[in-house]
Amino acid sequence: MHIRSELIGWGHYLPKKVVTNDDLSKIVDTNDEWISTRTGIKTRHIVEDELTSDLAYNAAKMALDRAGLSAEDLDLIIVSSVTPDNTTPSVATKIAGRLGVKVGTPAFDILAACSGFVYGLVQADNMIRLGQVKTALVIGAESLSKIVDWTDRNTCVLFGDGAGAAVLRACEGDGSKNDKGILATKIYADGTHYDYLKTNGGVSSTKTAGFVSMDGKEVFKFAIPALTQGAEVVAEMAGYKVSEIDWLIPHQANIRIISNVGEKLGLPEEKVIVAVDHHGNTSAASIPLALSENLESGKIKKGDLVILTAMGAGFTWGGAIIRL
Ligand code: ACO
Repeated sequence: MHIRSELIGWGHYLPKKVVTNDDLSKIVDTNDEWISTRTGIKTRHIVEDELTSDLAYNAAKMALDRAGLSAEDLDLIIVSSVTPDNTTPSVATKIAGRLGVKVGTPAFDILAACSGFVYGLVQADNMIRLGQVKTALVIGAESLSKIVDWTDRNTCVLFGDGAGAAVLRACEGDGSKNDKGILATKIYADGTHYDYLKTNGGVSSTKTAGFVSMDGKEVFKFAIPALTQGAEVVAEMAGYKVSEIDWLIPHQANIRIISNVGEKLGLPEEKVIVAVDHHGNTSAASIPLALSENLESGKIKKGDLVILTAMGAGFTWGGAIIRL
């Protein structure tokens, strides 16, 4: 008997307000043509009177509904975010309180930027496979619009707000590559790239959250091999060739990065999920948002073999291969 983590529920939530490239051209010196050709982004959702925890809560409710479970069934809550409501406590504990989980259910946040959801899946999967928990809720939720400098055209056009969630549950497999559930995961970090993508402030340095600043070219250069590696390594660990998967869901930062990674992996365009056009970069929310949206629409189906691959500030990166 081999314990696996099966994905039994998915959810997503986007704030109502949609901001177009033309809207942005009224705030900073930019235009739809520049943003579209350099990034592939057309629109993004931006919070008005909601908090990151509101986005996370709504995605969690949908994921529990799709799983056919109630909050009392949960044994673990993990939220990945770089934009928590408060510096402490965690968004996860707020969600635990709002959902009404069993008292004592562990809940914590992970800070791994755009790799946060994959990092969260790794923790949940490991705890499930160790038999410590049976049912886990993993959420990626961000209000990046709150840490964007809306006078800086280099960054403000790139990001969006939203949340995605997944419910994982222990299931029995035979340990083969044909099992359902998470088949392999791998996460990495290289802190020598700390300064290339960061907020220009923080609690211990400036007593403020700061705004996102980045060296776009360095991020771009690093992202392509890192996202490629994240996919290749988990495919190999699970005993698959990347060409055998049904779908690649890469972190949604930039269409040029996504296309490059798809090409490097030898995947046809049709197998690479793109959501950056209508979400922008939503950091930890980007992968679960894209996953949930496409499961909900029926494009991705139960039984499909999917690779998630992420890269973000730190730098952090990694992947997961899942049979849904
Ligand atoms: N509108 C118009 N012009 C702009 C804008 C804008 N919004 N932003 C920058 N420019 C200008 C620059 O000022 C520059 O002008 P200059 O030549 O007069 O100085 C010119 O456009 C070219 O800028 P480049 O930096 O060369 O543009 P590049 O082709 O590198 O694209 C981009 C920039 C899109 C940021 C790219 O570097 C990139 O995608 N990097 C990856 C970064 C990323 O996606 N970060 C998100 C977070 S990281 C993550 O999620 C993994």
